[in-house]
Amino acid sequence: MTLSGPAFGRRIAELRTSMVASAVDAFVVTSRPNLFYLTGFDGSAGAALIRPTRAFLMVDFRYLTAARDMLAARGERAIALERVDGDHDEAIVALLEREGAQRIGVEAESMSIGRFTRLSTALASAASPGVDGSGCPALVPLERLVESMRAVKDDWEIAVLREAARRLSAVAREIPALAREGREEVEIADDINAAIRRAGFSRPAFETIVASGPNSALPHARPGRRRLQSGDGVVLDFGGVYDGYCVDLTRTIQVGRWRPDFRRIFDAVLEAQRTAIAAVRPGVSGRSLDRAARDVLTRHGLGDAFGHGTGHGLGLEVHEEPRISRTAPDSDGALAPGMVFTIEPGAYVAGTGGVRIEDDVLVTEGGCEVLTDVPKEI
Ligand code: GLY
Ligand code: MN
Ligand code: MN
Repeated sequence: MTLSGPAFGRRIAELRTSMVASAVDAFVVTSRPNLFYLTGFDGSAGAALIRPTRAFLMVDFRYLTAARDMLAARGERAIALERVDGDHDEAIVALLEREGAQRIGVEAESMSIGRFTRLSTALASAASPGVDGSGCPALVPLERLVESMRAVKDDWEIAVLREAARRLSAVAREIPALAREGREEVEIADDINAAIRRAGFSRPAFETIVASGPNSALPHARPGRRRLQSGDGVVLDFGGVYDGYCVDLTRTIQVGRWRPDFRRIFDAVLEAQRTAIAAVRPGVSGRSLDRAARDVLTRHGLGDAFGHGTGHGLGLEVHEEPRISRTAPDSDGALAPGMVFTIEPGAYVAGTGGVRIEDDVLVTEGGCEVLTDVPKEI
């Protein structure tokens, strides 16, 4: 299979189909991951305007050369570069006016109320509406247009995520050498971060978690100066960004001999994770996978100890669609081939400790492929 890189033109074409369904004649993209997904541009400020037959990438002086080189390097013909002089919002309004856009979709998930108000006010004062108000362009907040496209990965993205998961698994296999009795949580976290960079990641995907002993009962504990002791359970949760894409992995270890009460929790969480992974296939919902994991833990008397969702999508953001959860509004949608997400049940019991086991899976036509490859017990 030849992988030519992200297919920006195809993505923009797919977005246009959603624009037609939402009856907008323009879509303004300001969310950084959405902008990257649609154009390949990854600067700290910038925007895209997608019109029915044209698309513009808007950047200022700081990024002009880089953006021009990027578009030229891939022979991009579908996206025109638009230089922003001065304020970005004023430039967006000026371009919308020049284009004569009337119903302008914006990203409801990420645009701030302040920006929405500024753009709306500027559009209204720039327009010359008829006496009945017709002709005044309107911003239309649209939910998840690009986010739901991003949830289904294409072949290029799957290849990147597969490679990223392979590399993160190699980092995980270093845990036994790093997480030893007498070492501080922060020292271990620093070593994991260094291993993530050595493995070829551009950066950790989030602040690495090393939670030992009583701290393991706190699902998102920050690493501190506590030294690992014999008898501790230790939750180690870390991720990396590779070619822009995030992967995420957790293992829980026991320092010294397994304590029977802690082992019971470990075995229950492992059973919950295996059950949920076995249930992954196209057509099922994130909510049903969450229920599969939760039912196992409830049967073991640990339902109340599982206080978070079972997983989340992975991609340009470490937490994105699809949500594998009982609470997220989008968790009833059918999972589809090409979706990549975590399965990470946990149970946290004050006094005994906490366990979380997390792997990354890809939905396939026939079920799923587990992308991470690390023994559960290391
Ligand atoms: N620590 C982030 C996560 O596993 O989702
Ligand atoms: Mn994690
Ligand atoms: Mn996770």
